Amino acid sequence: MKISAVIFDLDGVIVSTDEYHYKAWKSISDQEKIYFDREINERLRGVSRMESLAIILSHSSKSYSEKEKQLLAQRKNDIYCELLNKLSPNDILPGVINLLVSLKARDIKVAIGSSSKNTPFILKQIGLTSNFDAVADGNSIKNSKPDPEVFLLAAEILGVPPEECAVIEDAQAGIDAAKAAEMKAVGIGSAANCLNADMKLSDLTNLDIDQLLEVNEIRS
Ligand code: G6P
Ligand code: MG
Repeated sequence: MKISAVIFDLDGVIVSTDEYHYKAWKSISDQEKIYFDREINERLRGVSRMESLAIILSHSSKSYSEKEKQLLAQRKNDIYCELLNKLSPNDILPGVINLLVSLKARDIKVAIGSSSKNTPFILKQIGLTSNFDAVADGNSIKNSKPDPEVFLLAAEILGVPPEECAVIEDAQAGIDAAKAAEMKAVGIGSAANCLNADMKLSDLTNLDIDQLLEVNEIRS
């Protein structure tokens, strides 16, 4: 099966927002006197805001009401968005622009599939709002990764069958979501260690586009 669309995760694939997420969650954890470190932060990769909060609160002995949880998530997002104001096109990760240009030249559709509700703001900050044929994000889904919903929605907006889509991801939850959607899964960065990724790369600068699109595959 030839690939006719590529769905990009946003955080950690197009742009590195990890440090901003870490700083914002660290500030909330410190205020609440909850232990939080970079290892715990790694587990938040690709996971929705409320599910991230649940992971953080699992390190506290206090129990929080729904209202308190909503307030903590809101406070975290306010800090995070303040940090996102600094984001610019200089923060686009290496290899992204070249890949987008190469895919466009081959008439391959491109989409965003992200759990983040801040996707529109991040795309605006890095100047890529009009570079994608479809955007599926945390604002338009009920179930976040590893559920396949966000990638299936992106494929539906593009009008491409899931099996013709390749997903580029930096999180295990995202690789699992891509496989659950029956899509090809490319793991980069921390997801390069994922056993179920179909292709594994340190970053997008060494991506073999023919291998991504399976143009050399012998079809029966
Ligand atoms: C991405 C990030 C996660 C983050 C999630 C929700 O998937 O990798 O770390 O928790 O988006 O982000 P949001 O911007 O909606 O809080
Ligand atoms: Mg990610």
